[in-house]
Amino acid sequence: KKRVFSGIQPTGNIHLGNYLGALRNWVNAQAEYDNIFCIVDLHAITLPIDPVELHTNTRKLAALYIACGLDTRYCKLFIQSHVREHAEMSWIMSCFTPMGWLNRMTQFKSKAAGNLDSVDTGLYCYPVLMACDVLLYQTHYVPVGDDQRQHMELTRDLAQRFNAIYKRPVFTVPEAQIREEGARIMSLTEPTKKMSKSDTDLNSRINLLDDPKTIKKKINRATTDSLRLVTFDPERPGITNLLTIYQVLTGESQQEIEAAFAGKGYGEFKAALIDRLVTTLEPIQKRYYELMNDLPTLEGILKQGADEVRPLAATTLNQVKEVVGLG
Ligand code: TYM
Repeated sequence: KKRVFSGIQPTGNIHLGNYLGALRNWVNAQAEYDNIFCIVDLHAITLPIDPVELHTNTRKLAALYIACGLDTRYCKLFIQSHVREHAEMSWIMSCFTPMGWLNRMTQFKSKAAGNLDSVDTGLYCYPVLMACDVLLYQTHYVPVGDDQRQHMELTRDLAQRFNAIYKRPVFTVPEAQIREEGARIMSLTEPTKKMSKSDTDLNSRINLLDDPKTIKKKINRATTDSLRLVTFDPERPGITNLLTIYQVLTGESQQEIEAAFAGKGYGEFKAALIDRLVTTLEPIQKRYYELMNDLPTLEGILKQGADEVRPLAATTLNQVKEVVGLG
């Protein structure tokens, strides 16, 4: 089986974008692959974060991974900082990363938001650590949303450059797996921006743990337009975003959906979408709360995951150290 690796930062509430762009795809394809899924807490400290919040968010995210359907028969689940090899490899790889390559990363530029002198170095080196996450496990496929495309290109470039310098295939060159539908879920209130954990407008996103009342309120308030035509149309990003969410959740085609709502208004469509969202999220939330009520079991799963992946990471790290002349 081919190796799959991916991860999410435990920096806030997991939202519908994370679910439709990443998690849901991991769950749906898990039986086909040899999967490793990580909670990337070392990435979460690249911006200021409260320690207690980081610790609890990490457990909550692990519980959500399982609640969404990741199954330990197919997947190894672990916390990034529990496997030291990630940090060690990251130093070594940063010595093989041209600054010009990192300077081009658009996510760094937007997160630094002009404070280039005061922002911490970790944020700048973030893509190197992400590359190491993937390369340590000789990964073939990395299922992510569209916003990680550039980081994945960098990861491939770093792998190829390292292999070329030492004239040895030390790293498998991984491929990003970005689905056509749902790879870029947009903000509900400003549908030209992506849905994001850091948006200060709470109505801009549906969190996986939102209750039915909140989901209803947020969808009813979601920005649409005055045309009142339930059709996919890039000129009308609001309704198109809602339709895309509906499409991914139902698995129906665009034509089927447009036909089903032909002659109907936005109110009727929104009601159907709310219904879908609630029935999708309800069982996830139920399992989530069960898991959070039994933290020792959850910690056990994460410890076992870390114990299982550590030798894999160590094998690659040792090879890297050997070719570089370390150790
Ligand atoms: P993060 O935590 O920002 O997001 C987790 C996943 O959710 C996807 N995503 C979206 N997909 C569709 N629409 C959206 N609006 C949306 N917002 C987020 C992201 O593309 C991602 O797949 N750098 C990564 C975490 C990471 C990682 C890795 C990923 C660290 N190491 C190794 C893969 C492999 C990140 O910040 O994701």
